Parts: sequence; C-alpha cells; structure tokens
Amino acid sequence: MKAVKFLQSRWRERPRVAIVLGSGLGDVVQQVQGAVRVPYRSIPFFPPPSVQGHSGVLHLGNMARTQVALLEGRMHLYEGYSPAEVVFPVRVLALAGVEVLIVTCAAGGIAPRAVPASLMFFSDHLNFQGSNPLAGPHDARWGQRFVDLSKAYDRDLRSSAVKAARRLKLKFTEGVYVALQGPSYETPAEIRALGRLGADAVGMSTVPEVLAARQLGTRVLAIATISNRAAGLSKKLLSHEEVLEE
Ligand code: HPA
Repeated sequence: MKAVKFLQSRWRERPRVAIVLGSGLGDVVQQVQGAVRVPYRSIPFFPPPSVQGHSGVLHLGNMARTQVALLEGRMHLYEGYSPAEVVFPVRVLALAGVEVLIVTCAAGGIAPRAVPASLMFFSDHLNFQGSNPLAGPHDARWGQRFVDLSKAYDRDLRSSAVKAARRLKLKFTEGVYVALQGPSYETPAEIRALGRLGADAVGMSTVPEVLAARQLGTRVLAIATISNRAAGLSKKLLSHEEVLEE
C-alpha cells in the first residue's frame, strides 16, 4: 500500500490505462506526452534490478488524450524473479485505480497465419510456466482466491484493437498464446506438441501479469508482436537479436 500511496503522490491525474512494454518496444515511451519518469528503484517494494541491471522506469503521462502509466522494463520468471515479484507493478497500478491493462510481448508464431511482423491479439492463453502468481498464502488485498478466467481477455478492448489495426492496415490475427518459462527457446518437438494443444503463438511472459490483473478485476488487452516463426517452422535459427529487430 506504501507503493500505491507513493505513486498516487506522483501523478497529477490518475492513469486509466497501464501499458507493459514487451521486448523491442522501448521506443514507445517517446510517445508519452508530459511524462513524469519514476525509476522502479525509487518506488517502495518494487523488485530490485535483475543481474542484467535493467531496473526499469515507470512513465506517467498522456497518450492519445488518455492518462497512461507505461511500464518500461518488465520482470521475467527466467531472470529469477518470483511470480509475485513479476506481477507486483501490475498489482500496484491496479490498486491505484488503473482500469485497463495493455500487455505487450514478442512471441514466436505457431499457427500458419502468425507470421513475422504481424500482431496477435490474445483471445485466450495456456499457462505452461509451471507457476501461478496467485499461488501461496492468500492476501485479500490482491483480490479473490479463486479467479474465473473464462473471459480473461476483454472482448470489447479486442474489438477496438481489431478496428484500429484494420484502420492502420496492420497485419494481425487473434489467437491463443502459450507461456513457457524459458529462457531457452522451444524445441521443434515442443512446438509441434503445443500447436496440437491449441497454441497459436509462444512466449515467456504476459500470463503472470494477466492473472494478477484479472484477480483485481482490471480489464485486459494483450498483444504479441510476432517476431519469428517458432522453432522448427522455418529454416532460420532463433536469436534474441532477430526478436528485437522484428
Ligand atoms: N519462443 C518463445 N519466446 C519468444 C519467441 C519464441 O519463438 N519469440 C519471441 N519470444
């Protein structure tokens, strides 16, 4: 609650939308107008920087006439953060009054239509990370113990995203995201198996934040940029550089 109070003292106007920036999307922060930049390390109880040293910055400001809180620098399970640490920023923003969470990430395409340089709006997910941020002693401040996920991804937000993508002539699909822990990319056998289980794209993030947001009743839109065809589906080998570039 200290973190919530701290943030509320930092903004002139409450943000309505929180945006988590995925791999390679750091440039988006330049579009925030009148931004107040709050380093994560100055916010009470925000997780400490990982070994790589990227601590992260929260940008509070205006985008397209909407007050936003932009999280630049996300925590991943594969960095050694606990599931509770990964979702802490989202929980704090939701408790501070954010109504909508937009989570973005890079992902590998599994469905034939999920091609590089297209977007995928999540219709649903498979949690194969082997953990759940809602597990452990129950803290009622974070919401209910048992959370319904039958409509985790908000239909209205998704249809707005579809309309915007059509208007901007962006290539997009809707589909099911599967989250793995990483950090190794998948084997071709894993990708074949995941495809049969209904996954359209694969990545190493996003699901923990979605679970925490839904526990607090925050509406969610999740968008992957498809950066590559998943392992075994193209002749290319996978690399982080290619993911960032795409
Ligand atoms: N697999 C897992 N995570 C990813 C991928 C992938 O192919 N591309 C970008 N993030």
